[in-house]
Amino acid sequence: MPSSSEWTNPLRDPRDARLPRIAGPSGMVIFGVTGDLAKKKLLPAIYDLAHRGLLPAGFTFVGFGRREWSNEQFQDYVRDAVEEKARTEFDEHVWQRLAEGMNFVQGNFDSNESFDELASTLSRLDKERGTGGNWAFYLSIPPNSFSDVCHQLDRTGMAVGGEKNWRRVVIEKPFGHDQESAHKLNEIVNAVFPEDAVFRIDHYLGKETVQNILALRFANQLFDPLWNAHYVDHVQITMAEDIGLGGRAGYYDGIGAARDVIQNHLLQLLALVAMEEPISFSPHEMQAEKVKVLRATRPIEPFSETTARGQYAAGWQGSEKVKGLREEEGFDPNSNTETYAACTLEINSRRWAGVPFYLRTGKRLGRRVTEIAIVFKNPPHQPFHPGQTASLGNNAVVIRVQPDEGVLMRFGSKVPGSAMEVRDVNMDFSYSEAFTEQSPEAYERLILDALLDEASLFPTNEEVELSWAILDPILDYWANNGAPDEYAAGSWGPESSDAILARDGRTWRRP
Ligand code: BG6
Repeated sequence: MPSSSEWTNPLRDPRDARLPRIAGPSGMVIFGVTGDLAKKKLLPAIYDLAHRGLLPAGFTFVGFGRREWSNEQFQDYVRDAVEEKARTEFDEHVWQRLAEGMNFVQGNFDSNESFDELASTLSRLDKERGTGGNWAFYLSIPPNSFSDVCHQLDRTGMAVGGEKNWRRVVIEKPFGHDQESAHKLNEIVNAVFPEDAVFRIDHYLGKETVQNILALRFANQLFDPLWNAHYVDHVQITMAEDIGLGGRAGYYDGIGAARDVIQNHLLQLLALVAMEEPISFSPHEMQAEKVKVLRATRPIEPFSETTARGQYAAGWQGSEKVKGLREEEGFDPNSNTETYAACTLEINSRRWAGVPFYLRTGKRLGRRVTEIAIVFKNPPHQPFHPGQTASLGNNAVVIRVQPDEGVLMRFGSKVPGSAMEVRDVNMDFSYSEAFTEQSPEAYERLILDALLDEASLFPTNEEVELSWAILDPILDYWANNGAPDEYAAGSWGPESSDAILARDGRTWRRP
C-alpha cells in the first residue's frame, strides 16, 4: 500500500490526479506573524487556500508574537493583509469561517510561560475545532531564534505527535550563512523534529513554472536527447529584480545577493535543470537526484575571472530617480553588501562535463525577470556562406519562470526573399495564452503540501548544506578581496559580470 503522502501527490496518485487535494483536520502556528513575509505572503496564501476550498472545515491558525493583541485585533491585522494581498477575491463568508479559527498568543521565544500558554491553547483548540492534534509550526523568524523556539516546542511536548496525529515544522530561509552554520541549525532542528517532519521552504520550488521544468524534461521526448554536453554550449540562470532594498536593511545588510538568492533559489533551479530523471516524484527519489547533482557541482576558478559582485549606486529605474544602496534607509553608508552576484559553476558528470552554468542575480536591474536559458552549440558544419548566417545566434530553449511565464525556443529561419539569409526567430509558448487557469501563488502550494505531508518540493538538510558548500569558497574569496563594483540602478549590473562571459567568448542574454 502506498503511504498517505504518496496518495496525495498529484504526480503519483493512482486516482484522477486532476482532482483537488484537500488537507485533513489540522492547524498552523505562525512564529513571526507580524513580519513582512507573513503579511505579504503567508496570511494571504492561507486565505487563498480557504477560498479555493482546500483547507479542512475546522482549520485553525494561531499567531504567536510579542504584541499585546486580543484575538480580535489579530483578526483585524490578518484581514488587512488578506484584503491587500490575497490573489483571490475577498469573500466575507470565506473570511468569517477562517476568522473563527484565528487565535493570538502573546509571548517571547525564551519564555516558558508563553509556551505553556501556547500548549494549552492548542489542546483547547483541538477539542473546540476538531484539529485532531495535527499542527504545523511555521518559523518565519531569524535563524538565531530557531534554537529557543525548538527548545520550547520540545520542552512542552508540542513537537511530537502521537500514533494518530502529527507535528511538523516549516522553516523559512535564511538557513544559515555558510555550510557550518547551516549544519549547526540542522542539528538544532533535527534534535527536536525528525527530518521527515521538517519542511524547509524554498518558495521558488512552489512556482508553477519551476515545476514545469519537470514536465518539460520528463514528459517529452523532444528535449532530452539534446540535454547534455554533446549539444549544450552553456546554461544561463538569471534572476533579475528591478526593486531596491529600501526597508529591508535589517535582513539584507551583511547578507547580500549570493546568500539571499544563489544559495537557495538559483541552485535549486540548477538542480532541476541538470538532474537525471528521478525513478518517481516521491520526495525521496527527487531529493536523491538533486543531491547527486549538487554533490557534483563546483565553482570554476579563478574567482577573479569567473565571479562578479556589485552594489547598485543611484540611477534611473525607468522614469523614477532612485537611491544607491548606501543611501537606503538603515544601510551602513559604508556597506560592502553586494546587491548583484554572478558566478560560474561546472557539474562533474558525464552529462554536463565542460558545460559552464552561469548564474546571476541582482536588485535594481533593468527589469524583473527570472529565466533559464539552455544555449546550444553551433552545428558542426553548415553548408552556407558565412555571410548568410551572420545574423544567426545559437539555438536556445529559454524557460521563462516569471513574468510572462512560458517557454521560448530560438532557432534560425530563412528570411523571405530570393537570397538565402538565415536569421534567429522565436517560437513562444505562453501560459496565459495556452491555459485559462490562473497559477496559484508559490506559498499556496507549499503550505498545502506541508499540511498534506507532501515533501517533494522541500529541500532536505543535505541539499541545503551542499548548496552552501558550493557557494562558500566564493564567499570566502569575496570577503578577502575588497569591495563590490558599483553599477548604476536600472542597468544590467557591473561590467565585471560581462567580463565573466566575454572571457569565454560569450555574452549574457538581455531578456
Ligand atoms: C526572496 C528574497 O527569497 O525572493 C528576496 O529574499 C527576493 O530578496 C524574493 O526579492 C523574490 O521572490 P519572487 O517570488 O518575487 O521572485
